[in-house]
Amino acid sequence: MPYDTQEWDDRYRQPGYWAGKEPAEFLREVLPLLPRGRALDLASGEGRNAVYLARQGYQVFAVERSRVGLEKTEALARESGVGCRWVTQLTAAHRHEAPLALVEADLESFTLPAEQFDVVLCFKFLQRPLLPLLHRALRRRGMLVYETHTLEQLKFASGPRNPEFLLQPGELRAAFSAMEILFYSELCAAKGMASLLARKA
Ligand SMILES: C[S@@+](CC[C@H](N)C(=O)[O-])C[C@H]1O[C@@H](n2cnc3c(N)ncnc32)[C@H](O)[C@@H]1O
Repeated sequence: MPYDTQEWDDRYRQPGYWAGKEPAEFLREVLPLLPRGRALDLASGEGRNAVYLARQGYQVFAVERSRVGLEKTEALARESGVGCRWVTQLTAAHRHEAPLALVEADLESFTLPAEQFDVVLCFKFLQRPLLPLLHRALRRRGMLVYETHTLEQLKFASGPRNPEFLLQPGELRAAFSAMEILFYSELCAAKGMASLLARKA
């Protein structure tokens, strides 16, 4: 799996969509439980989840470091009939604005505003210093949907290899223990993956 922006850009320049155009199955499953409103998709890739939430009526901010990934997101939005615009900040949305906002930013230095989002998504991405900021970015009763690889992934031939970007057993649940955990699983079957749905008190 690529590590730096250049590698992700090169990957995303290849034909098709690296993770597909359809949302993650876990997001589809939890959608009926999520509060309506403003959503933030962190490290949004080519936009499969951000475009899906925008299609469901959310005001979505997709934050991603790969310019090519965001351009693919823009193309997917157009193809899905979702209006989108490029922005530099996670500012409050106005009614007339497009439902999907694209933010080209490095999450190692980008500041997430406090208490702004009803839903925060993070799929297949782990940057440990960011974890406490996700809880802070949520509004009261807002929900976090997080799914990414665990160390168990190393038992399988493909997928990410660098342990720095793989969760320890129980790590995701422990990181959000201040929240109400509505669902948590760790799977080790064809892939090593932890999935979490949690609500801010
Ligand atoms: C495995 S992909 C996941 C994409 C998307 N979340 C999905 O599930 O389809 C990881 C993404 O993280 C992005 N990324 C890595 N480091 C980043 C950073 N510091 N800031 C923003 N995006 C980053 C990469 O460009 C890549 O698009």
